[in-house]
Amino acid sequence: MPGLTIGDTVPNLELDSTHGKIRIHDFVADGYVIIFSHPADFTPVCTTEMAAMASYASEFEKRGVKLLGISCDDVASHKEWIKDVEAFSSKQSSSPGGAKSSKVTFPIMADPERSAIKELNMVDPDEKDGKGVSLPSRTLHVVGPDKVVKLSFLYPACTGRNMDEVLRAVDSLLTAAKHKGKVATPANWKPGDRAVIGPSVSDEEAKKMFPDGFETADLPSKKGYLRFTKV
Ligand code: BEZ
Repeated sequence: MPGLTIGDTVPNLELDSTHGKIRIHDFVADGYVIIFSHPADFTPVCTTEMAAMASYASEFEKRGVKLLGISCDDVASHKEWIKDVEAFSSKQSSSPGGAKSSKVTFPIMADPERSAIKELNMVDPDEKDGKGVSLPSRTLHVVGPDKVVKLSFLYPACTGRNMDEVLRAVDSLLTAAKHKGKVATPANWKPGDRAVIGPSVSDEEAKKMFPDGFETADLPSKKGYLRFTKV
């Protein structure tokens, strides 16, 4: 199904939320935002995901990244559900960096007409409510300061997202952006690991850009394209 994906500008929708009316471009302003959907309030996996987001919120904040949830239930329902989420979150022992917040400090938007989830490419083709109307999937778009989608995850209702992976992917995006797209992060990269130098960067340019140098993997092709550097 075609729809919003990486490289597209996020639509500038205005929606009600638990923090009042939100216009998406104004919310993004000049930072990074994670817009994430969940199928429905008061459901098991969604409650664990929202509780996990609450405990990771300070990690995203440290990186200057704001969170913006959305589902098709209304604001009154979201506000009631948040009480459950916070109660559940406060009983969980693990959170990144030892931070212990169980509060849902970020807004959750409401889309009872299901029009926004279509525009944001967040519809789950298989999950329907009691009236047979489509529910949101577990979609997550990371939107950059230019309002463009930089990364998207699309998970079905049965699979809760891994917030460590969301954080790792954000760290990768921010690292690549800091180096103006001249570096990328390899498989299973985590902050502190070496990055790879992008193919558009010549060895001469790389020597100037990376004072600690770089290491070229010795591969059978001898093409010298796999170069690791500290970032
Ligand atoms: C859940 O959050 O557990 C869920 C929500 C909608 C459909 C299936 C599962």
